[in-house]
Amino acid sequence: MKALVLVGGFGTRLRPLSCTRPKMLFPLANQALLDWTLKNLAEGGVDTVVLAVNYMAESLVRYFGPTKFDLGIIYSREGRPLGTGGPIKKAADLLIDDEPFLVLNGDIISDIDYQRLVEHHRSKGAVATIALMRVQDPSRYGAVEQDGDGRVLRFVEKPERGEAPSNLINAGIYVFEKEVLDYIPDGRKVSTEEEVFPILAKEGKLYGLEVHGLWLDIGVPEAYLEANQEILQRLDGPGRGEDIEVHKTTQILDPSYLGEGVKVGSHSVIGPNTSISEHVHIGEGCKIENSIIFPGATIGDYSSVRNAIIGENSILERWVKVESGSLIGDYAIIMDGVTITEGVTICPSKTVSESILQPGQVM
Ligand code: GTP
Repeated sequence: MKALVLVGGFGTRLRPLSCTRPKMLFPLANQALLDWTLKNLAEGGVDTVVLAVNYMAESLVRYFGPTKFDLGIIYSREGRPLGTGGPIKKAADLLIDDEPFLVLNGDIISDIDYQRLVEHHRSKGAVATIALMRVQDPSRYGAVEQDGDGRVLRFVEKPERGEAPSNLINAGIYVFEKEVLDYIPDGRKVSTEEEVFPILAKEGKLYGLEVHGLWLDIGVPEAYLEANQEILQRLDGPGRGEDIEVHKTTQILDPSYLGEGVKVGSHSVIGPNTSISEHVHIGEGCKIENSIIFPGATIGDYSSVRNAIIGENSILERWVKVESGSLIGDYAIIMDGVTITEGVTICPSKTVSESILQPGQVM
């Protein structure tokens, strides 16, 4: 079976971390975000993946190459962004076979059972089937209304509290017959959710199946940190790369991952739920928990980072404090003694010399 994975978006909220890598190559324990999806697809019976690439396409091609996890990888390049639907039309010739194909948003981490989804799709004789996830609060998403047979009747986008027809939302994972291509206009940006699904629903050709298991949409820092935690808990190996140097007085609390060439000074505490990417240097007396540190970052002595994401090659000098939900952009410099309070975003290459104490600020 073939799968098309959409990997071309900008990823607005996490953009400060995209200076040198697209979101799909963000670190998640010892691999890139998209590696986890490719591995699950290979295990779920997919043999060929078409990656619909646009933003930073070349880095994706260089990283994944022509095969990975026994999957053949084909690239469908867009000259300009075609949204979530246009790339499906563009890759039509690469996708069409005698069987249905999968379409996935690439920024979702999930371990759903693809085989079950495809079997359900076939048993209903559907033209398209959407994987549905049950969430507590559907107000951030589009909630789905179904009939007794599982047919999708309508979507309610971002429903007000109490107005959602169900707690089931579109998980961004679909099974399509080639007939779906007839519903996608050619040569322009198309939104599958807004332009294709409503018509298929009206014609009674769209089904939904509730799926179970891990499902996280890596659109905001909180979800990315949650995915990091989940993946670290599932790691089989020791969670340590090669050539790491950790001072004997430093404690590593698992689950945590330390990449190749990581150095940590004395009396620091790293973890739990922390991914430290390759060639990160951490000084003495530091405390880092529930966080993701991108490659090449430097964290000076006595600094602390909690529930936060630190971008590539950024520098936290000494006695720096980064609090929950904050995001330090690539190549930023946070100077001695600065506190970055909760939910703050520091733009790439910015130098911050004074504390930021108002939550949610973008600097
Ligand atoms: P944010 O919503 O700002 O996070 O940006 P996004 O671009 O990631 O948007 P969205 O969540 O709608 O994207 C869903 C999936 O489609 C993601 O995996 C994106 O990478 C992908 N995607 C979005 N726009 C395009 C596009 O124009 N071309 C391709 N190939 N993929 C896209």
